[in-house]
Amino acid sequence: MMPRAAIGLRVLGVVIALWCAVLGGGAAQDLAADTAALLAFRDAVGRRLPWGASSSPCGWRGVRCDAGGARVVRLQLPGAKLVGQLPVGTVGNLTALRALSLRSNALSGGIPADIGNCGELRALYLQGNQLAGEIPEGFFSLQLLQRVDLSHNRIAGGVSPEFNKLRRLATLYLQNNSLNGSLPADLDLPRLQLFNVSYNDQLTGPVPALLARKPVSAFSGTGLCGAPLSPCANPAPPSPSPSPPILPPPAAPQGSKSSKLSGGAIAGIAVGAGAALLVALAMIVVLCFKRRRRKDGRPADVDEDASPVSVTVARTDKSEMKRSRSSQTMASGAKKLVFVGGEPDMPYDLETLLHASAEVVGKGWLGTTYRATLEGGAAVVAVKRLREAPIPEREFRDKVAALAALRQDNLAPLRAYFYSRDEKLLISDFVGAGALSSLLHGGSGAVGRVRFGFTSRARIALAAARGVAFIHGAGSSHGNIKSSNVVVNHTHDGAYLTDHGLVQLLGAAVPLKRVTGYRAPEVSDLRRASREADVYSFGVLLLELLTGRPPANAVPGLDGVDLPQWVRAVVQVEWTAEVFDASIADETHAEEEMMRLLKLAIECTEQRPERRPVMAEVAARIEHIVDSAIRNADVDDFESVSS
Ligand SMILES: *[C@@H]1O[C@H](CO)[C@@H](O)[C@H](O)[C@H]1NC(C)=O
Ligand SMILES: *[C@@H]1O[C@H](CO)[C@@H](O)[C@H](O)[C@H]1NC(C)=O
Ligand SMILES: *[C@@H]1O[C@H](CO)[C@@H](O)[C@H](O)[C@H]1NC(C)=O
Ligand SMILES: *[C@@H]1O[C@H](CO)[C@@H](O)[C@H](O)[C@H]1NC(C)=O
Repeated sequence: MMPRAAIGLRVLGVVIALWCAVLGGGAAQDLAADTAALLAFRDAVGRRLPWGASSSPCGWRGVRCDAGGARVVRLQLPGAKLVGQLPVGTVGNLTALRALSLRSNALSGGIPADIGNCGELRALYLQGNQLAGEIPEGFFSLQLLQRVDLSHNRIAGGVSPEFNKLRRLATLYLQNNSLNGSLPADLDLPRLQLFNVSYNDQLTGPVPALLARKPVSAFSGTGLCGAPLSPCANPAPPSPSPSPPILPPPAAPQGSKSSKLSGGAIAGIAVGAGAALLVALAMIVVLCFKRRRRKDGRPADVDEDASPVSVTVARTDKSEMKRSRSSQTMASGAKKLVFVGGEPDMPYDLETLLHASAEVVGKGWLGTTYRATLEGGAAVVAVKRLREAPIPEREFRDKVAALAALRQDNLAPLRAYFYSRDEKLLISDFVGAGALSSLLHGGSGAVGRVRFGFTSRARIALAAARGVAFIHGAGSSHGNIKSSNVVVNHTHDGAYLTDHGLVQLLGAAVPLKRVTGYRAPEVSDLRRASREADVYSFGVLLLELLTGRPPANAVPGLDGVDLPQWVRAVVQVEWTAEVFDASIADETHAEEEMMRLLKLAIECTEQRPERRPVMAEVAARIEHIVDSAIRNADVDDFESVSS
């Protein structure tokens, strides 16, 4: 006979064993269900996905499991050529999913009605598809959602008041869809940071109070009204104006009947009036400025450091350049081209240069860059025509000599200069195939079509980092790091920095450029930009390479974002991979290296200058990243060959 205690223990043991079996079996069951759902997903929209080689889905492309390998927690297939409708029983059956990205595909039909089963979902990125229909009811039960991007689809219906259930929502992007009706007046999302409903032309009615301080561009191309847009036509809102209020409101008419103006409206008018005053002042300044240099053919608005390469110069512009330069030569008499660091093998003079065929390759705040082919094809040089900036000749000469002494493989070598009171030219070798900015953001077709993978990007970053580190090692700073000042070589695996030190050639009288997305927060005067500020700008450049997005105010005609802020916002939600450019995001073999480069970029863009790494360290770390990316690529090739 067994003692009671022993029986009790036995029973307990059996219970524990059973419990474990149930749990273990349950987990396996769940992974099996996830696998079935993924296979159904593949059959519906992704026939070409290379899935199913191994029995566990955890190693499949774009699929990530939790630490124990028990459930699928991420499905990430940006730009994976998915086509067709997402049926129920696919993503809706992945009930442990925390992040889903199917952006930049060709998905059509509606958002699956059973999406509401994915109660763990924090991030949902479906932008850039052809999804239609209304947002399904179940979506609003996803209470953990933080980032939602449904932009650039054909989603219809109204913006539901049920969005208020998503208390953690920080990003809500709905732009470029077919939403209609009005926005919920009592919209109340305490954590909302990023919001956009622009280009939903059937949205009407007032902007909810919660959104009154969002940028105007978040509402462009809609029929919405009220702050930050023009005030709503109060009595009846028939919205008769066919043109959407893209621009901020004109100030309310004087003597308006309305006796009560809300505080907001008064503030709005004050701001509007202030802005008008500023605009008027700016115009006066520009006009005076223009007058002072009437022979100059450049547009007065030079605040965009434009990137596009190979803009063939208009004939008038070109002849104007010659004319102005020729007249200048006469005026300045015996002024000559001064070679720095020795004459070239085939010396040329100013006349030759003026008669060279030239095209504009870049126009910016500092001046205009021409690509000039000397007569007889003797040489191809880059001529930088600096904006008018009073600086004494001796100072100019000394500074240029210091710049010319900086010789390194990743810096475009400076060869000569020309100085007169009104005209300053810097002549350097014409290097590379085109600016990084046009490679990333388009502009010239030939370059744009080449696949521009992660390893290339990392190598270009390395070349640029070495150039900057060299300048810093010489006790100087670049002062103007940005993608239009990085020239990529023909094989897209190396680069040259241009325009280093040029900001210092501007006299103190030159007005400041408006803030761009590359500038470190502590910098108020570019002429005194420190090495730490260079590191910040370089970090923004890295983010641009990784995300494929232009920083704010960097590329004319392209909307930018505050890249460091945007990336931090996305990275906060566990799922860092979401920031990557769709055209590199599928390089799973390099995922770790991408993450390391991203981490480095975030360190470089620390707000506090003293927390940023020094450039030599940055270069060394990128070198390691490039090395291991190349090693991985080799392994990848090997595997695809051997299998
Ligand atoms: C999805 O889950 C439902 C309910 O559990 C199940 O009936 C269905 O077969 C699943 N679909 C797939 C494709 O696994
Ligand atoms: C968004 O919609 C606007 C208006 O239709 C259009 O001009 C813009 O190009 C769209 N953006 C994209 C990226 O398609
Ligand atoms: C919005 O569009 C839906 C169809 O997608 C339609 O049923 C609804 O009536 C429209 N609402 C308004 C206010 O126009
Ligand atoms: C909103 O989206 C539009 C269209 O894509 C874009 O042009 C605009 O810059 C965006 N604004 C904000 C504040 O995100």
